[in-house]
Amino acid sequence: MTQDAAIGIHDLSFATTEFVLTHQALAAHDGTDIGKYHVGIGQQSMSVPAADEDIVTMGAAAAAPITARHGTDQIRTVVFATETSIDQSKAAGVYVHSLLGLPSSARVVEIKQACYAGTAALQFALGLVRRDPSQRVLVIASDVSKYDLGSPGEPTQGAAAVAMLIAADPALVRIEDPSGLYTADVMDFWRPNYRDTALVDGHESINAYLQALEGSWKDYIEQGGRALGEFSAFCYHQPFTKMAYKAHRHLLHVCGHDTDAAEITRAIGHTTAYNTVVGNSYTASMYLALASLLDHGEDLTDKAIGFISYGSGSVAEFFAGTVVPGYREHLRTAEHQEAVARRKPVDYARYGELHERSFPADGGDHPVPRETSGPYRLAALSRHKRIYEVR
Ligand code: CAA
Repeated sequence: MTQDAAIGIHDLSFATTEFVLTHQALAAHDGTDIGKYHVGIGQQSMSVPAADEDIVTMGAAAAAPITARHGTDQIRTVVFATETSIDQSKAAGVYVHSLLGLPSSARVVEIKQACYAGTAALQFALGLVRRDPSQRVLVIASDVSKYDLGSPGEPTQGAAAVAMLIAADPALVRIEDPSGLYTADVMDFWRPNYRDTALVDGHESINAYLQALEGSWKDYIEQGGRALGEFSAFCYHQPFTKMAYKAHRHLLHVCGHDTDAAEITRAIGHTTAYNTVVGNSYTASMYLALASLLDHGEDLTDKAIGFISYGSGSVAEFFAGTVVPGYREHLRTAEHQEAVARRKPVDYARYGELHERSFPADGGDHPVPRETSGPYRLAALSRHKRIYEVR
């Protein structure tokens, strides 16, 4: 295998939560015209974790079908991307490693840069596989998006995990060089260590996203990337699905193209099916957009896809991938649709209880109510240790 051999996404699977809050229920509670949610931000519902679900249980649930299909022997690295970290020291991926029975001869690490970290994990994985194409890397991006109750960010919450197996000769998408990169020190969205919920300057964050998109695109072109017209579809980070429409309109404008609504819908319409019902899943969001495109789009064989990863604070990356012939035989469309359809609706009061739940920091034994019907659960916090179990 040479340096130029194809490396990319060999398998992709996502998981989400036990519960769902519809925007209809949120609108009824807060007196908002439903048009603002359904049309204005493009959201129908948002995933709500059960008391015994978190980034580890979702990450393990997303990754289990991948290890079941491909085995674990070649996995020597697990990269866990999140901005919902559960520990300042231990990587959440170590719990997943244990739940999935991965080999001890593997390295596990957690990385962070807001919603961009899933892409950082992917790029690190590509480098490792390029160094030794016999190895595979399990990338997990898992997040719970949480803002204060009653705040403007509340309708843009959600939760999900995406797991991807990065390998040589991939079955789904070959990832290409170059990447376009952009970093700027802005305070558009952040979460200090002492807070459970994020702080955001909502309208500033939209501008920061568009600036970062523009900067990463310009760098992509300077690095010798493809022309805009070569792409068949674009997977954007989707904090809410309307953001992808705003972003694509901005990119077309920057490139001097017509900002025709039908063309924007053609380029991104198939990428929003999961995000519109799951909500913001931070690091996982852009990869949910990819799952949606592959699961719902027309035949994309040999077509180029543009990826626009944005993480507040901020870092952005624009890169390209090409869809591999035969990819449809490897998709998990039915499982993905089931992951969304199986969620149980909760009313605003129940969602509010789950939202406000937190563990006492007293070091005592705190069992967690049995709620999830997923494969893994957080069973307890005991002497400051999180105890997970297979259901
Ligand atoms: N019918 C149809 N549309 C309506 C409507 C109605 N009845 N009422 C309002 N709208 C439209 C508005 O015109 C507006 O559309 P445009 O943006 O196209 O003008 C849209 O609905 C939203 O309305 P507002 O701007 O008035 O809404 P808001 O002030 O409550 O804020 C928000 C919206 C900024 C997205 C807020 O929900 C928020 O702060 N969310 C969290 C931050 C976020 O997601 N930022 C995205 C970029 S940062 C990022 O990408 C990283 C990340 O993951 C966080």
